[in-house]
Amino acid sequence: MRKKVTVVGAGMVGGTTAHRLADKELCDVVVIDIIEGLPQGKGLDLAESAPIEGYDSRVQGTNDYKDTANSDIVIITAGLPRKPGMSRDDLLKKNYDIVKQTTEQVVKYSPNCILIVVSNPLDAMAQTAYKVSGFSKNRVIGMAGVLDSARMSTFIAMELNVSVENVTTFVLGGHGDTMVPLARYSTVAGIPLPDLLPADKIEAIVSRTRKGGAEIVNLLKTGSAFYAPSAAVVEMVEAILKDKKKILPCAAYLEGEYGVQGLFVGVPVKLGARGIEQIIEIKLTAEEQAALKKSADSVKELVGIIGV
Ligand code: 2OP
Repeated sequence: MRKKVTVVGAGMVGGTTAHRLADKELCDVVVIDIIEGLPQGKGLDLAESAPIEGYDSRVQGTNDYKDTANSDIVIITAGLPRKPGMSRDDLLKKNYDIVKQTTEQVVKYSPNCILIVVSNPLDAMAQTAYKVSGFSKNRVIGMAGVLDSARMSTFIAMELNVSVENVTTFVLGGHGDTMVPLARYSTVAGIPLPDLLPADKIEAIVSRTRKGGAEIVNLLKTGSAFYAPSAAVVEMVEAILKDKKKILPCAAYLEGEYGVQGLFVGVPVKLGARGIEQIIEIKLTAEEQAALKKSADSVKELVGIIGV
């Protein structure tokens, strides 16, 4: 029997995620939204693509959480996206209410699922889903690091005019302006980035990575990024469904790792059938550790406002 994945939110991130999941024939997909007709329309459109693309994944759109029952993974994309000039944090209170209500419904019908949170501000919303769900910490994961690392990899590949497949990058910390792109652990065909680019070029890439989401918001004007975010989610889903034990940067609930206590922050984790199977701790320099602490402190501030 195929695995079942529910995507909450039939907007651009949710719809594109469903599209990618079906295209890869990874699972059956349920798309749910409160707007009547939107998930049904996107679901049917994707189902009608199947004979052409050649996938047998079933895609269903619904407004009823009953249809999401017994999902293996639930991806929460519901929430308002940013508009130009808004930070991810401006979305805090509105999206808190949405993610809280969503999580309650998800848990009622899929008590054994793994939750992947995509709504912003990401780390605080992952913490909301974790607290509201009562799930063990391995089953609540925030999508951010894969996206932020992909952006950094893109900029490095553009700068050096090399294949993106040669580039490996690591971004730690919260999914916000204080995220910590780690040049030292970023490589091109195994060569450390600092051996390939001067400090000022690396700094420009780090800065562009930090502002990567806003760059897209400012270009689109009517919403935020969805192609790269959905690709990032699908890489995480694939790692879990195929039990790949793949190390990816994700927001995870830390209890002392990296000196962070009781907070979701982006760190390298091993993703497999049980969700987060291990948090990988790497040695940071004093400067990197300070940057991570600053990033964790900004997550803590948000979490304090919504009290989760
Ligand atoms: C981004 O960085 C929407 O947070 C998402 O594009």
